[in-house]
Amino acid sequence: MERLEVTETFAGISLPGHLHTQESLGFATTFPFRPSDVLIATYPKSGTTWMQEILTLLFSCGDILPAKTIPNWERAPWLEQTYFREALRDTATPRLITTHLPARVLGPALQRSKTKVIYVARNPKDVAVSFYHFHRLAKFLPDPGSFETFLTQFLEGTVHYGSWFDHVKGWLGQRHLLDILYVTYEELHQDLRGTAQRLSAFLGCALAPETLGALEQHCSFASMRDNAMANYTLIPPEIMDHSQGRFMRKGEVGDWHRHFTPQQNACFNRIYQEQMGDVELPMPWPIA
Ligand code: A3P
Repeated sequence: MERLEVTETFAGISLPGHLHTQESLGFATTFPFRPSDVLIATYPKSGTTWMQEILTLLFSCGDILPAKTIPNWERAPWLEQTYFREALRDTATPRLITTHLPARVLGPALQRSKTKVIYVARNPKDVAVSFYHFHRLAKFLPDPGSFETFLTQFLEGTVHYGSWFDHVKGWLGQRHLLDILYVTYEELHQDLRGTAQRLSAFLGCALAPETLGALEQHCSFASMRDNAMANYTLIPPEIMDHSQGRFMRKGEVGDWHRHFTPQQNACFNRIYQEQMGDVELPMPWPIA
């Protein structure tokens, strides 16, 4: 199947031309956020879809109907994409918005509006593996070639959406400027309940025991894998070639062990150390 190779360059990073235009990207930078909005910010493949689902359940008080009947891109639309204005609804609950844009682009507007931000990060080795597999099915991304080739580009930061290191450092740098909560994919794995409670406290949204039970059940990997409103199977094959793999692929921590050679791992560790060595992480994760 052919690739939709159009690329937009914005703020020094490449983005897929599919659903991104200079107009939609420009609109994102001037968007009038409200203090009641909740923004999910992530580098791709870090647990965005999982967080969209968790927050949907949190705000619906455990009612699974919205999550089962409305696609996630309408429940928590992407700020930078062309359909955003149309999809954004005035809802009784906070407006959930999603973005992959870097902090340097959105920081000033978010500081002014005092919008709550949830930044989800994941071990970059697992991000690289997940992103590689995603490139194989997402026809709006370039052909990744071999894993070796892709990993080199990932470490150089020349992949679409830019450098993982810059993204994470940029959003960590907003720690004292924004009303922001940092969550890791690994924490969601280890303690979904505890993390949901932390989210509820941060968002000021009550979390009854029944809600917690429904959230845990509905946001499990198996439930989400089978939910067409969350698993992207509604996307036509010319945009996502489902014969090449699933969006809900494995959902594991540490899958990188099955992909990295010892040389690739040593190279990754060296670059990670150079880039992140003196960065204070509010959410440490083992990369070794
Ligand atoms: P894998 O490719 O490693 O399986 P994003 O939503 O940011 O694009 O991230 C997608 C990754 O999150 C995929 O990782 C996907 O399987 C994983 N994921 C989504 N929902 C999940 C869940 N409920 N539990 C565990 N992993 C989940």
